[in-house]
Amino acid sequence: MRKIGVLTSGGDSPGMNAAIRSVVRCARNEGMEVYGIYRGYEGLMDGEIEEMGRSSVGDILHRGGTILKTARSDRFRTEEGQEHAKAMLDTFGIEGLVVIGGDGSLRGGLELSKRGITVIGLPGTIDNDLGYTDYTIGFDTAVSTVLEAISKIRDTSSSHERTTVIEVMGRRCGDIALYAGLAGGAESVLVPEIDNDINDICKRIVIGANRNKQHSIIIKAEGVDLSSQELVKIIEDKTGRETRLVVLSYLQRGGVPTSCDRVMATLMGAKAVELLKDNSPSKAIGKVDGKIVAYDLEEALTQKREFNQEMYDLIGVLSK
Ligand code: F6P
Repeated sequence: MRKIGVLTSGGDSPGMNAAIRSVVRCARNEGMEVYGIYRGYEGLMDGEIEEMGRSSVGDILHRGGTILKTARSDRFRTEEGQEHAKAMLDTFGIEGLVVIGGDGSLRGGLELSKRGITVIGLPGTIDNDLGYTDYTIGFDTAVSTVLEAISKIRDTSSSHERTTVIEVMGRRCGDIALYAGLAGGAESVLVPEIDNDINDICKRIVIGANRNKQHSIIIKAEGVDLSSQELVKIIEDKTGRETRLVVLSYLQRGGVPTSCDRVMATLMGAKAVELLKDNSPSKAIGKVDGKIVAYDLEEALTQKREFNQEMYDLIGVLSK
């Protein structure tokens, strides 16, 4: 394969730039031409495509966001849009495409794959919500960002003897809440995967206060079927303790990627090029049991994500 493309799609995540750099430099090393496609599938349909050299990815390894920009494209969801995107790749002679993004982005890649393009998917989302992989690029940085916020919020929460609800990202997956809750010593965590027992959460706050706990930190994933404002009101009403809400929102999507995100993104980018060089069929790259894996793209996307009940239960034990 001589000509390949790379794009980022959906919500950005820290480490995407490290993946782009790795793809571009490894491909150049193999004598391939690499084309950067701007604004995800939107830019692909519009032909926003530019050849990339080694120096075009200089000084980006440590930067959050994505130099290729990103978009969520409704146009590309249509049959017409997908045909148009395939025609654009043909126009540029691009036979292989590296797609860095979450579930929707990789599903978009699958549509192109069905039309004859070899697509290698890299899991790029802070949500860690892909079933076939234990890890997604950006997740580690997002959890670190939440932890930093928890430490600061804990200080003021203690001074005022308050309860603070911290809302984190995660529409369908509570992993950010779960990992940050475990590492940050939260009293309780609310996730979208299971029913959350509000009475138990309130009981823990009251019991904690009775044994002189200065504060309570409750981490709630945004996808939970109860608004954060409502949760705060219920907690305040039931416990009689002052309760505040902090919504971390996009703070979690930006920032300098951690070493883990940089290393994994770089290894995954290199693996993508290796597969394309070997004329592999379309694959989804992931990390399973500590190793980089490459699964059939279509099969990977059918894998269901398992909720980590053990981790959830452990948070309950530790914060009793
Ligand atoms: O990247 C995933 C995610 O961060 C979700 O957790 C969140 O709901 C969503 O993206 C919001 O992204 P945007 O507002 O950019 O569409």
